[in-house]
Amino acid sequence: MLNMLRKIGFSSYTFSETIVVTEVLDNKWNCAPMGVKLENGKLYFYVYEGTRTLEALRKNKYLTINIVYDINVFTKCVFKTLDYKKLYELSNNFPVPHIVTADAYVECKLIDLQEADGKFKAICEPINVVVKRRVPRTFNRAFPAIIEALIYYTKIKPFKKIGLDKELNDLMKKIMHCKYIIKHATTNKKYLEIIDNIISKALDEIGEQQ
Ligand SMILES: Cc1cc2nc3c(=O)[nH]c(=O)nc-3n(C[C@H](O)[C@H](O)[C@H](O)COP(=O)(O)O)c2cc1C
Repeated sequence: MLNMLRKIGFSSYTFSETIVVTEVLDNKWNCAPMGVKLENGKLYFYVYEGTRTLEALRKNKYLTINIVYDINVFTKCVFKTLDYKKLYELSNNFPVPHIVTADAYVECKLIDLQEADGKFKAICEPINVVVKRRVPRTFNRAFPAIIEALIYYTKIKPFKKIGLDKELNDLMKKIMHCKYIIKHATTNKKYLEIIDNIISKALDEIGEQQ
């Protein structure tokens, strides 16, 4: 199991950007991007107060950690604009679904939720690892640039909450730089539409009550 987790990229040094699926209510699932690390054979991530993921983990101990190379899934999990029927797939012997388009997923049980400076360390016991895709992919700059832009976007709300208003301009500049990267990396309109959408949502978010 540990070997397989390492093979698919989990490390104790580097965050793996994954999609975590949890159960919020009976048969109601939630997905969110989370940065996951490996420690003593367990997977863990830090989850902030106010997220649905934390709310769900307080009630239900099972979750799946999904390796997804699908920008639509990341974007839609952040903006919650999902067609839920097409997103999830249940396996026969686990209570929480995984993402249909995942390259691999890990079925896990939460074993501890430790509070540490306003965030919670969710420690998960891996129960089963499933690899769905064994074909290599080329590396490109567009995918990580969208991931980066989404991370900055998700920081706007918490920054506003703790009064870091001066930093908001900086976040916006960083998001604009992601667009610059995308423009140099691809002519695929899908990526440009997604980054423009992130920019417009970020501007709306920053504009509110300023
Ligand atoms: C690539 C990426 C990684 C993220 N990693 C984390 C993380 O490790 N912990 C966290 O609390 N939020 C993280 N976030 C932010 C959450 O995904 C974001 O706040 C999300 O909207 C929370 O969703 P939820 O309310 O459905 O749980 C990350 C966002 C992105 C785009």
